[in-house]
Amino acid sequence: MRSIASTAAAVAVLVTFTVAHFYLLLYTLRFLLSRTLGDDAHTSNVPQRAPTRRIYVYDIPERLLHRDYQMDLESCPDSFYSVEIELPRLLKQSKWSLNATHTKDAALADYFLVPHYSTCYYNKCMQSARAGGGQNCEERVKQYMSDILDHVEAEYPFWQRNAGMDHMFVLSWDWGVHLFGDQDESVIRNRLASSIHLTLLGLAAKDKRNVFDPQKDLSIPPLRDYRIPQSLQQLHRERERAIFAYFRGTITDEFRYSRGLRQRIRKYGEDDPVNYFVRLQHGDFYWHELSSARYALCPAGWSHWSPRLFDAILAGALPVLIADEWVPAFNGTFVNYDEFIVRVAEKDINNLTAILHAIPRQKEDAMRRNMRQYTKRFLYGHTPTDDDATDTIMQALARRPVPQMIPVITDMGGNSEAEYSPHDEEPPSRQPSEDVSEGEL
Ligand SMILES: *[C@@H]1O[C@H](CO)[C@@H](O)[C@H](O)[C@H]1NC(C)=O
Ligand SMILES: *[C@@H]1O[C@H](CO)[C@@H](O)[C@H](O)[C@H]1NC(C)=O
Ligand SMILES: *[C@@H]1O[C@H](CO)[C@@H](O)[C@H](O)[C@H]1NC(C)=O
Repeated sequence: MRSIASTAAAVAVLVTFTVAHFYLLLYTLRFLLSRTLGDDAHTSNVPQRAPTRRIYVYDIPERLLHRDYQMDLESCPDSFYSVEIELPRLLKQSKWSLNATHTKDAALADYFLVPHYSTCYYNKCMQSARAGGGQNCEERVKQYMSDILDHVEAEYPFWQRNAGMDHMFVLSWDWGVHLFGDQDESVIRNRLASSIHLTLLGLAAKDKRNVFDPQKDLSIPPLRDYRIPQSLQQLHRERERAIFAYFRGTITDEFRYSRGLRQRIRKYGEDDPVNYFVRLQHGDFYWHELSSARYALCPAGWSHWSPRLFDAILAGALPVLIADEWVPAFNGTFVNYDEFIVRVAEKDINNLTAILHAIPRQKEDAMRRNMRQYTKRFLYGHTPTDDDATDTIMQALARRPVPQMIPVITDMGGNSEAEYSPHDEEPPSRQPSEDVSEGEL
């Protein structure tokens, strides 16, 4: 009997495993198929909730988008910066899209999205500059953006209508609009100043570089291929988490980089390897390690934001956010980060071990359970669905009043004439220009 039972058990395990792999394979195939064939068949299954805002996504001609030279866009979608490429496509497919057949019908839109691939363009230019090819990348990316905006202004009547305040740009560069230079010397940056910037870098208040304004801009999640952690979740749901605190990634000796935070983490790894699993190289076991970790350290790098936060959420490791100024995507609206992250002030980095050990195991488990309910908010599905990242971006905008120019009455008597002032004009201030990394966070 026992051997029959154990054979049956073994078969059951085998079947479960095979079934799991089968679905994984099926999922991968479907993904690949939908990439090649387009996924229109699935959009009809999207549950409908009446959108209260309409967005019009401009059609930018290929000759402007893909531009003159090394725009090897094929390799861009592998990067989390490629949200600049994916989001316009996703929004266009979403229920929020105003599918105008004639340009004049687009006048009903509340928001206008201007697609552009600036970060990809700049990264490609820098790569080829390092290889001795291209040069002057900052000037070229400024020109690239200007040409696209010129096109929008010349071909459509909508930009002028509200001085660009209802126009949106995905600025996935680590420092958002700073890709186009300092505010006091960059014409294109000033032209974009009143528009809505969708960036990976959210900040609680206007920063010294003036790249994020919480009143009008929106912090969004990066684009990531999360198929691996999702399959890990399915296979080891309640897996033992053997790593206490985890960090893998770039650490340089320059203090300016991460203001000493990552260097301190490297020291934790050297002095206390039992608690701290720290590796300086990116590696193939990243997802396995992350899903075996109880806490994932997410320190600032060149920029305040880091993709690790979202990786950790997907992999079930509690994020330890060590970046005082960063306000991650959807905080306070659709995601209550306080339910599951540990926020450690940068000044308290030396007390990290005590802070983490002070969290009771029960609380840690509860935080991990809380975290699970938010994962969908950070995922860009191949087609948009309710409450995924694309949908949440629009839900967040729908909570705000539609941006409109405020008429300023200058003459109270007789012919009162309306003048318009975009709300984001501030006297420019000179910032020391700093090198910004090309992608290593
Ligand atoms: C616009 O078209 C997409 C498919 O291209 C569709 O999924 C979406 O629902 C449409 N939006 C509206 C408001 O009809
Ligand atoms: C989210 O926003 C609230 C204020 O609305 C702030 O107190 C909190 O620290 C923020 N959390 C994160 C993780 O940024
Ligand atoms: C370090 O953190 C622990 C736990 O949160 C706290 O009790 C202690 O006061 C902190 N020590 C310092 C020096 O901040």
